[in-house]
Amino acid sequence: MCGIVAYVGHREACPVIIKGLKRLEYRGYDSAGIALMNGSLNVYKKKGKVADLEAALADVDTHGNIGIGHTRWATHGEPNDVNAHPHYSTSRNIAIIHNGIIENYASLKQLLIQKGHTFQSETDSEVFINLIEDIRVNNNCSLPEAVRLAMHEVVGAYAIVVLSKDTPNQLIAARKGSPLVVGIGKGEFFLASDATPIIEYTNEVVYLNDYELAVIHDGQLDIRTKEDVKKTPYVQTLEMALESIEKGGYEHFMLKEIFEQPKSILDSMRGRMIAENDHLMMAGVREFENKFQNADRIIIVACGTSWHAGLVAEYLFEDLARIPVEVEYASEFRYRNPIITEKDIVIAISQSGETADTLAALELAKSKGATIFGVCNVVGSSIARATDAGAYTHAGPEIGVASTKAFTAQVTVLTLIAMIIGKKRGTLETTKLRQLIAEMESIPSKVEKALQLNEQIIGISEVYKDATNFLYLGRGYNFPVALEGALKLKEISYIHAEGYPAAEMKHGPIALIDEQMPVVVIATKDSSYEKIVSNVQEVRARKGKVIAVVTEGDTTIPAMADHVIEIPETSEHLVPLLSVIPLQLLSYHIAVMRGCNVDQPRNLAKSVTVE
Ligand code: AGP
Ligand code: GLU
Repeated sequence: MCGIVAYVGHREACPVIIKGLKRLEYRGYDSAGIALMNGSLNVYKKKGKVADLEAALADVDTHGNIGIGHTRWATHGEPNDVNAHPHYSTSRNIAIIHNGIIENYASLKQLLIQKGHTFQSETDSEVFINLIEDIRVNNNCSLPEAVRLAMHEVVGAYAIVVLSKDTPNQLIAARKGSPLVVGIGKGEFFLASDATPIIEYTNEVVYLNDYELAVIHDGQLDIRTKEDVKKTPYVQTLEMALESIEKGGYEHFMLKEIFEQPKSILDSMRGRMIAENDHLMMAGVREFENKFQNADRIIIVACGTSWHAGLVAEYLFEDLARIPVEVEYASEFRYRNPIITEKDIVIAISQSGETADTLAALELAKSKGATIFGVCNVVGSSIARATDAGAYTHAGPEIGVASTKAFTAQVTVLTLIAMIIGKKRGTLETTKLRQLIAEMESIPSKVEKALQLNEQIIGISEVYKDATNFLYLGRGYNFPVALEGALKLKEISYIHAEGYPAAEMKHGPIALIDEQMPVVVIATKDSSYEKIVSNVQEVRARKGKVIAVVTEGDTTIPAMADHVIEIPETSEHLVPLLSVIPLQLLSYHIAVMRGCNVDQPRNLAKSVTVE
């Protein structure tokens, strides 16, 4: 995790870096720091948010045109001032910012201590900068060369930027496993973990690849591999709009992103579906259509909310395309010696495209010969680039740590893929396909309608904001939605919540139910409706408080529930796209009422680039 920003050019570096760090705070916010060439090489760092660092800099003369900055999500060493980045080398001549983990840091540290280096922090990052210094002094080489050689010594993941007192106009960056983007302006350069700190200055960017080293000096960008092979920078023009990374009048990014869903869902299906002639198209799927058609099975690897989207896809693929599906937590899959064959298709789902476990799981599957398909939101992300083919979700930047619009975009894209494959395999008959396409088209307006529940949900949130536990129940397509609703509540309001398949309740969780327990039941009119009616009765019989999400016009469940949330009717296959909306709103409002930091919940970060 962590966000890194660096600047060199004609502007004042400090405000550019601070603003950039604020944009990257979703990646981590344990501490923040900056190194500037303001007279000498000076490091300022502080536990807490970027705003705390900014306050601490109020009395400092930050004047200067080059600097590096960091917002941390701690892996090695607790979040405090000392462990905050940047870190100096022992001589204090050079400083580093680092995103990632150096796995062999302990043995390197031992060696460096024997050679006389001293350490202030517990971080692995400080080991990296001392290693660079050590190599530079021993080999009497330039700093870029020392960084290049150090890349051969470290094991793990890193995106680093190094700044030196001796070459005050030079930035040196390198990456392996953690993202790094170079922004190219007029007579100025930016480096950042993603493009959001860069976009307001320039839309010309170069994504650094693994094992590449970038040296910015005298207005020149020089990229070479760790084997010292010079590369021509591949400059891309970004289309990201500045408004898409700002709150646009909403109190929180999460709320903005919830309300963006009619548009983001539409964007995720745009150009991929023509209702008139049942035409579905997705370039990435077309490329591997035969593979999909003949696949023995599909394995889905993902984490968190993306894993929940994967579970929805399991129902869709099995039902519409009749291909067996396994949905795996990427972190378990990668260490389990799984059986993978060349006939398997592995779908990696990730909003950020940077989740370390998902990336490692797909690399493992790739090494066994499986075809790898990516469903990612962030264009050009590591997972998107590591897959054989894929489909972007086009939901736009998701900044709130709790994923909302990325989930519905993932489900939309996965539904389209299931429909394409079902059609190709002849398992989805034309009439049903037509109905589904027509229904898909109406989803954005139905989501719009579901969002009108906001006021009602504020009322329900008032009633339950002080609860200590929540249970979420759903069956079939709504089971993953129950898991997602529970995860949303946990991560932003810190209320313990569990999602369960409604029928499993009687095998354990039912013991938790008493008059204090709010139970959110997602009970839309679908093939298991009658069954879930019985489950609601079981909750009522134990005096649980029932908050029911039902299909508009239902009269049976409302007669038994304490609160009824009505969502528009849709096909069973598409219901998660609607039933998740009130659950997102419920968790949002409860978290706000409890005074929680919705966009930056404690201990979390947006993209988990560490194991
Ligand atoms: C979602 O609200 C979470 N913050 C988290 O579970 C997230 O979905 C997970 O870390 C996976 O991220 P990815 O989609 O970027 O791979
Ligand atoms: N390992 C470094 C630290 O603990 C960087 C952390 C990260 O990128 O997540 O400070």
